[in-house]
Amino acid sequence: KALPTNKESAKKGGFRFYMEKEIYEQFEVLKENTLGRNTKEGIKFEEVDKKFFEGINNIIISACGTSYHAGLVGKYLIERDAKIRVNVEVASELRYREPLLSQDTLFIVISQSGETADTLETLKMAKKAGLKTLALCNVDNSSIVREADKTILLRAGIEKGVASTKAFATQVMTLWMLSNYLANKNEYYAINEAIEVTKVDTSLHEKIKRLSKRYTKGHGFFYIGRDIFFPLALEGALKLKEISYIHAEGYPAGEMKHGPIALADPDLYVVALLSKNILFDKTKSNIEELVARDATVLTISSEYIEMTDDFIRINETNHPMVEFFEMMVITQLLAMEVAIRMGNDVDMPRNLAKSVTVE
Ligand code: G6P
Repeated sequence: KALPTNKESAKKGGFRFYMEKEIYEQFEVLKENTLGRNTKEGIKFEEVDKKFFEGINNIIISACGTSYHAGLVGKYLIERDAKIRVNVEVASELRYREPLLSQDTLFIVISQSGETADTLETLKMAKKAGLKTLALCNVDNSSIVREADKTILLRAGIEKGVASTKAFATQVMTLWMLSNYLANKNEYYAINEAIEVTKVDTSLHEKIKRLSKRYTKGHGFFYIGRDIFFPLALEGALKLKEISYIHAEGYPAGEMKHGPIALADPDLYVVALLSKNILFDKTKSNIEELVARDATVLTISSEYIEMTDDFIRINETNHPMVEFFEMMVITQLLAMEVAIRMGNDVDMPRNLAKSVTVE
């Protein structure tokens, strides 16, 4: 492989890969994403008003890949806070089903590129059925933005790494703000705190780099979590799969005993997302079960637990979404460091495309 030209490395801002640059950018990007939207008086969106949401009793979220995982986080938040039923759908499935679409449903599509064929088709289907449609999208002027009734732009800037990082961060943040908006809830300070924890601490990054050494062998990974940390487990596993080519699965922590725990042995790696704020004891006992069966476990938490092989400490906070954003960065860095150690080009993983515009 040719060495990168100076111009190329300048574009990466001195980072080894665009993915690394984009992980480090998340702090700035989230500030941009929330600018003028997260205010002390509550959430404001220039793009939509309360009238747009009148008469809405249900929400369907349709998306693919990483955007789908963001949608799942949105479900937990919107149902809990705004008390509106949310179904999250994989677009490639939804488009060929015969879904029951009622007129009191808001149809939300989430897409970084705005060009994903399956997502676009579901949007057209919803419009045809007369539903109100809203896009959460990063690319203005994209097909999805043109098709949707309203769009809230993600403002993540151009994302070059095929494995989505900063776009995911803005999708989750936008859904969090939307949930606040629909619930008339004001979490101004928690949102700012969540942005703050995405600033990459270089000593933490070094620690993850060292840790990654241990996690390149084995026969596979499970990422486990409960509640909003379950979709984060799915996304953490997807990141690792995409760029390291190691088999990884995200699982609800409580579901491990229904099959997957059969795989536990020292060569099974588990990344446990242990929230202090949501179902701490339950998740901890799920971790104990895995430790008892000799799996190799890395726990990410603000509460130190001695029993696991590795531990990464996050900041103490009372808000689960703050934990979420800090854990998100850690899982991204872990996937990247494992993949780099294996000699992979993390920006251009084999067999994958940044935007899937055909079926
Ligand atoms: C591709 C990309 C993924 C992305 C998915 C959905 O598979 O490789 O990173 O999550 O498409 O893309 P979208 O642009 O609709 O968010």
